[in-house]
Amino acid sequence: MNQKQLQQEIQRRKTFAIISHPDAGKTTLTEKLLLLGGAIRTAGSVKSRKSEKFATSDWMELEKQRGISVTSSVMQFTYQDYKINILDTPGHQDFSEDTYRTLMAVDSVVMIIDVAKGVEPQTIKLFKVCKDRGIPIFTFINKLDRQGKEPLELFEELEEVLGIETYPINYPIGMGQSFRGVYDRMDHKIEWYNEKRERQTQVLTEDDDLTEILKGVADEGTIHQLEEDLMLLDEAGNPFDFEAVKQGKQTPVFFGSAVSSFGVPTFLEHYLKMAPYPQARETSIGKVTPDTEQFSGFVFKIQANMNPAHRDRIAFLRICSGKFERGMTVWLDRTKKSVKLAQPQQFFADSREIIDDAYPGDIVGLYDPGFYQIGDSVCESKETFNYGELPQFPPEHFAKVRAKNAMKQKHFLKGVNQLAQEGAIQIYRTPYEETILGVVGQLQFDVFVYRMKAEYGVDLDMQRMPHQIAKWITKPEDADELRKSSNNLVVLDHQERPVIIFENDFSLRWFEQKHPDIELVDSSFSLR
Ligand code: G4P
Repeated sequence: MNQKQLQQEIQRRKTFAIISHPDAGKTTLTEKLLLLGGAIRTAGSVKSRKSEKFATSDWMELEKQRGISVTSSVMQFTYQDYKINILDTPGHQDFSEDTYRTLMAVDSVVMIIDVAKGVEPQTIKLFKVCKDRGIPIFTFINKLDRQGKEPLELFEELEEVLGIETYPINYPIGMGQSFRGVYDRMDHKIEWYNEKRERQTQVLTEDDDLTEILKGVADEGTIHQLEEDLMLLDEAGNPFDFEAVKQGKQTPVFFGSAVSSFGVPTFLEHYLKMAPYPQARETSIGKVTPDTEQFSGFVFKIQANMNPAHRDRIAFLRICSGKFERGMTVWLDRTKKSVKLAQPQQFFADSREIIDDAYPGDIVGLYDPGFYQIGDSVCESKETFNYGELPQFPPEHFAKVRAKNAMKQKHFLKGVNQLAQEGAIQIYRTPYEETILGVVGQLQFDVFVYRMKAEYGVDLDMQRMPHQIAKWITKPEDADELRKSSNNLVVLDHQERPVIIFENDFSLRWFEQKHPDIELVDSSFSLR
């Protein structure tokens, strides 16, 4: 393949995740996008895990049978010659570190906001990860067929709560009962909302007057409000700044109603024009551009098969440079060992298939007999490099664990270490050699207990702790001092770095007042 072909393949790739609070409409929007791309034929194919409302035990059964969560983790489809990869970020009860890490593998993010609810807690958490990485963020304000907050109020909320500039690409004409459509400020066209769910657009010429066109269609109050808002935005709103969008400092905002597909094609078309294709990424040998001839990528997720008879796992690899070909031999940077990629899989909405080739931006699933760890970099060249450690995210739930049967201590330690390496949990050690687990989502505890039994044959005693916050201590000598002089719970993470675990915000603030000289950071990632 020559350089030009590789460039073309890169430029047609858009890889993103959708972030939102449960119920904002992520499943619905995903499904409409897949329908547009012809990746699915009927609505209802994409299952909202939340709506299935299965208990944890059912979830385990489902996980055992595989399929479901693997195939819906990554979905590829084609639209207007673009190859689009949507990476799922489980947002409901199975919220976990996977959710966060997936955001390391995308080139942009779509944030859905429910027009009535505005910015919600889970959106804030996920947004923060994107902002720290400087990923471009596109906002889709959903459910305009229902009455919600005023658009200007929502922009203010986005700017104040999330700290991102907004630029509405289109603007709603009414809302709820009086919703008539959206006015596209960039392309000067109206997209009419209709019950028939047909796409009806009207391009405005220089001579057309928006107010005149809306007369008789929308009520006077709606027209008046729209005129005022648009004038205000033109005069006092942020100017569109593409550079700021690329750096994740300004978010283009779109309005629509995903359930009726309204505004979805328009959103997608603008998004495809504006969103970045795969860019250069920082590595241990400096920036590596996607059009580098040599193939490289990193593993951002490992999905273990819970069937104890088959310990195989699938490692999800984000391709960052070069062309991926089935059967190629690659080198793992961590171990400097080589492996032949025999049966790589690619994921579609409702299936997975063996693929022959893939390009930067794509995700491939690699059969993993225990070869990979999360964060591993894989290179075509024997002179390997790496894409850096993937961040560990601050856990919010903690529990002390030990093997019920002391004779099983060896298996216990092996399991705990392996699952921590895989990224299923975070582990800490107390000065008394007790093991503490930290997780982002509670379901991770259940999965951990299940897997320790199924894969390592160890029954656990688990004692939940009231703690909620972990902070890494930047200077290890501070930790020694604290152990002597305070009652704080100072533990070590898996790399022997000191961490303090607090019960709540109050105890954290109390600590900060008492020890103003001790620097604490949110995650081990910030230590570097
Ligand atoms: P999630 O994945 O973000 O959790 O949200 P999901 O798409 O499952 O949507 C949550 C609920 O919001 C669903 O209703 C869905 O139909 C509804 N919804 C999504 N988009 C729109 C929209 O544009 N307008 C309106 N009015 N509703 C919307 P549900 O009652 O929970 O489920 P269902 O029985 O309708 O599927």
